Amino acid sequence: MSAVSIAVFASGTGSNLRNLYAAQQAGEIAPGYLSLVISDKPESKAVAFAREVGLPVFAIDHKDAGGRSVWERMVIRELHKHHVTLVVLAGYMRLVGLALLETYQGRIINLHPSLLPAFKGLDAIGQAFEAKVAETGVSVHYVTADLDGGPLIAQKRVAILSEDTIETLTHRIHEAEHEILPKVVRMLCQIHP
Ligand code: GAR
Repeated sequence: MSAVSIAVFASGTGSNLRNLYAAQQAGEIAPGYLSLVISDKPESKAVAFAREVGLPVFAIDHKDAGGRSVWERMVIRELHKHHVTLVVLAGYMRLVGLALLETYQGRIINLHPSLLPAFKGLDAIGQAFEAKVAETGVSVHYVTADLDGGPLIAQKRVAILSEDTIETLTHRIHEAEHEILPKVVRMLCQIHP
């Protein structure tokens, strides 16, 4: 099986990036390997982590790049430079533009903290908590132009307990994400070498 070069887009605390990196180090995402971290938040913890472990990083604010479409063209160049064939959005909180979608059609996946199609968009954990539903969860799906609406690849349910606070629920959601994302990445790398 040939190696699969993966880029992770991350702009938040980067717990999923850390977890994917740990999975890679443990041989759990082979034949995939992380070749690049992309961010629109140069000061984020995700970027700090990537630099700490020596992963190549492209981290520029859209504004400093001269706007979103210029940023995206720069990103596509970086992705090609690193021979990226799988793009993983893990805490990238922006819509992906058309140029990137077309270049990586069927090869961009997104992690979202709800059981899609429920609770799309920002603060999905808070939305589920406020709605007082009995369960929520996490989803990994292909990215299309439809926000959080592309075809599902995998989901994991997380019950909302009566004693839950937003913090305890968030913690269990992250645990579910850390379980599901490396498995999906490995599966995709194995079927699309
Ligand atoms: C994760 O919970 C991910 O599902 C969410 O951002 C968080 C990033 O956490 N993504 C979205 O809400 C996308 N719509 P992390 O920075 O600790 O990996």
